[in-house]
Amino acid sequence: MRVVSGIQPTGGLHLGNLLGAILRWVRMQEEAECLFFLADLHAITVDVDPAQLRSNVREMAAALIASGIDPARSTLFPQSAVPEHSELAWILQCTARVGWLNRMTQFKDKSGKNREGASVGLYTYPVLQAADILLYRATHVPVGEDQKQHIELARDIAIKFNTDYDTELFVPPDPFIGGGTAARVMSLRDGSSKMSKSDPSDMSRINLTDSDDAIAQKVRKAKTDPEPLPEDPAELAGRAEARNLVGIMAAVSGESEEQVLARFAGQGFGAFKPALADALVALLSPIRGRLDQLRADPDTTDQHLAAGAAKARQLGAPTLAEAQRALGLSA
Ligand code: TYM
Repeated sequence: MRVVSGIQPTGGLHLGNLLGAILRWVRMQEEAECLFFLADLHAITVDVDPAQLRSNVREMAAALIASGIDPARSTLFPQSAVPEHSELAWILQCTARVGWLNRMTQFKDKSGKNREGASVGLYTYPVLQAADILLYRATHVPVGEDQKQHIELARDIAIKFNTDYDTELFVPPDPFIGGGTAARVMSLRDGSSKMSKSDPSDMSRINLTDSDDAIAQKVRKAKTDPEPLPEDPAELAGRAEARNLVGIMAAVSGESEEQVLARFAGQGFGAFKPALADALVALLSPIRGRLDQLRADPDTTDQHLAAGAAKARQLGAPTLAEAQRALGLSA
C-alpha cells in the first residue's frame, strides 16, 4: 500500500481541505508509506504572483506539518522540485485522449465563460495529476469528493498505457474518499457550493489561521433554517445547510451523524451552533499554535522540503525510466 496525495499551495488551508483530505492523510501515516506534495505546478495553471507562490509553498508545508504530517515519516515535497512529474506528464499527454479531458468538470468550472482564454495547462491539468500519482505507483489516493473524476482519469490513463505498451508498469489507483459528508464540506453561506479558497466571501469558509473569535462568529452567522434538528439523518434531505453543519460536527468530533443527531434532536441551531464552534476551536486552536511556531523557523520547513524532494526523486525516477523504455525512448 502506497499513498500519494497533493494540495495546491494557493492561500491557506481551510476546513474543507482539513476534513476532506489532510486529517485522513495524517491517519494514513500509521498504516502506509506516504508521499504528500505541494502542487505548485498545478497552481501555475492560473495567473500567479511569483513571490506569493514561493511563500505559499512554505506556508502550506508548515500548515501540513502543524496538522500532523510528520516529515520524518512521510515524504513531503514541492511538486516542482521533482522534474520527473513534468516529464512523465508529457508522456501521459500522449496516452490521454482529448475526449477524456473534454469530460472533466473542473476545467469547465474553472475556465467558465473564458474557455478560449484559459491556459492549455488548465486543460491538461488532470494529466499532470495522473503523472503525480502514477510516478510513485500509488495504490491509494486520499482526496475529497471533488477530485474523484481526476483519479478515475488517472486510472484510465494507467490502464491504456499498460495495454498499449504491453507492460504492467502503472498501478491503476483508487480514489480514497472518506465516508460521510466530510468528503464534501460545503460553504457556510450556501449549502449547494463547496467550501473553497476561491470563494470571494471569507465568511463562507473557516481557515486554519482564523482566531477562536472568528471561528465562533463564522459559525454563528452560518446560514441555517428555523427547523429543529431531526433524529434521523435521512430527514436532513433538502436542508443542505443543516446537513453540512451536522456533517462537519460528525467529522470534527469523530461521531456518526446519527450520534450527533442523538445529542441534538429536537433542538434548534441556537443550541447546536455554540457546541459546533467549541468543537472547531478545540480542533483548530492547537494546530494554529504549532503553525505559529513553524512560521518562526522557516529554515527547518525548507530543510524538510529539500530532504523530501530528494527522497521523492529516488522513488519516482525508476518509474519514469521504465516508461521511457516501454515507449522505445531509451534502450
Ligand atoms: P486542492 O488543493 O483543491 O484540495 C486539496 C484536498 O482538499 C480536498 N478538498 C475538499 N474536501 C472536502 N470538502 C471541500 N470543500 C474540499 N475542498 C478541497 C480536495 O478534494 C483535495 O483532496 N488537484 C488537486 C491537487 C492535486 C492532487 C494530485 C491530489 C494535484 N495532484 C495528485 C491528489 C493526487 C487539488 O487541486 O486539490
